[in-house]
Amino acid sequence: MNILILGSGGREHALAWAVKQNPKCDRLIVAPGNAGIAMIAECASFDILDGARVVEFCEENAIDFVIVGPEAPLAAGVADALRAAGILTFGPSAKAAQIEASKAFTKELCDACGAPTAAYARFTEAEPARAYIRAQGAPIVVKADGLAAGKGVIVAMSEDEALAAIDDMFGGEFGAAGAEVVIEEFMDGEEASFFLLTDGTHVLPIGTAQDHKRVFDGDKGPNTGGMGAYSPAPVLTDALAQQALEQIVRPCVAELARRGTPYQGVIYAGLMIKDGHARLVEYNARFGDPECQVLMMRLGAQALDLMLACAEERLDRAQATWADDHALTVVMAANGYPGSYAKGSVIGGLDALPETSSQMVFHAGTAAKDGAIVANGGRVLNVTARGETLAEARDRAYAMVDAIDWPEGFCRRDIGWRAL
Ligand code: AMP
Ligand code: GLY
Repeated sequence: MNILILGSGGREHALAWAVKQNPKCDRLIVAPGNAGIAMIAECASFDILDGARVVEFCEENAIDFVIVGPEAPLAAGVADALRAAGILTFGPSAKAAQIEASKAFTKELCDACGAPTAAYARFTEAEPARAYIRAQGAPIVVKADGLAAGKGVIVAMSEDEALAAIDDMFGGEFGAAGAEVVIEEFMDGEEASFFLLTDGTHVLPIGTAQDHKRVFDGDKGPNTGGMGAYSPAPVLTDALAQQALEQIVRPCVAELARRGTPYQGVIYAGLMIKDGHARLVEYNARFGDPECQVLMMRLGAQALDLMLACAEERLDRAQATWADDHALTVVMAANGYPGSYAKGSVIGGLDALPETSSQMVFHAGTAAKDGAIVANGGRVLNVTARGETLAEARDRAYAMVDAIDWPEGFCRRDIGWRAL
């Protein structure tokens, strides 16, 4: 079959890598893609937020199946446009994707089905929000309702910090995303991510992972999109995963279906774990980046079969199997990230690294220039390996990192510390 993947990050490189290994895949196109993706698939350039344009591209290229990587096209209704045109699609409708696009929507969804999450209140005006913060005290969490590129959440350790966040949000710092604000109880515990596929009715867990959000070793410095990840996440034991499935994800999926807006695609549930219980922190309507890289490394070619079963609403007859092993990915970023950084520096040493089913350098922000690979974004490479133990996966990944010659880049040296 002819397959189109939308996106350009390490997540989409990992999806393309897994899909390409499946004999069902005849032709693979990624839009817009990046320099690493271009080594294994065709890349195409058009506006992936324009549903009509995506449909037109699919018709011109006889595309049989579309996999939507990032949240922006989902929120823009691209999956709706594709389904309306009769094109098989992996990714939720804009209405269902509100589980990521609106924090208030998700809190209300959890209320409706009794899913455990932090207590909260919603505000569209600053003064009542300030009064609520003063009444609740710190620590407390202030969130812009809409998509804010991962920056719309302030975990305030003091009341002053929370009040300042209210001023910023209602002052327009997050644009329309901050027109409504959710204020939440601070949840203590350890975070882990749980990934599940759903076809609207059936739910199939496909793995667990942990991310490293802070830029520097020891979880110091500002938040980023993620500096590394590993799978499985030992903190998310089978019993806790089962609890999260039965108490959180299944009830939410059933409630969305009951409302006539069934969710189809991957659900990324961010969980907070404390004293043997899991509560929902947030949902994302897509694979995590870089969590997808470690999931794909463990799932391999069957990822395509699972995504197809999801889109064809036959997930009840699908099964996810994976080796009892571990995968770990180290993000290499441009110096200065997540602040300002330069583009265009040359990355050496990649050609000498063998790429196998158990070690891969997935590209995120890269471009090809004059026969070389150059940095073209903040997060640039995802150096990924698997091993029988997490320590072995980590050692393999860092051995690859050390073979890469890129003085203008950096990485954390402690990915996996929590589990090791
Ligand atoms: P979100 O975008 O909702 O995932 O929030 C980003 C990050 O903020 C999460 O991954 C948590 O680390 C933190 N966070 C969000 N909500 C809470 C909460 N209620 N209590 C503690 N930490 C939170
Ligand atoms: N790595 C976090 C995310 O994809 O949202």
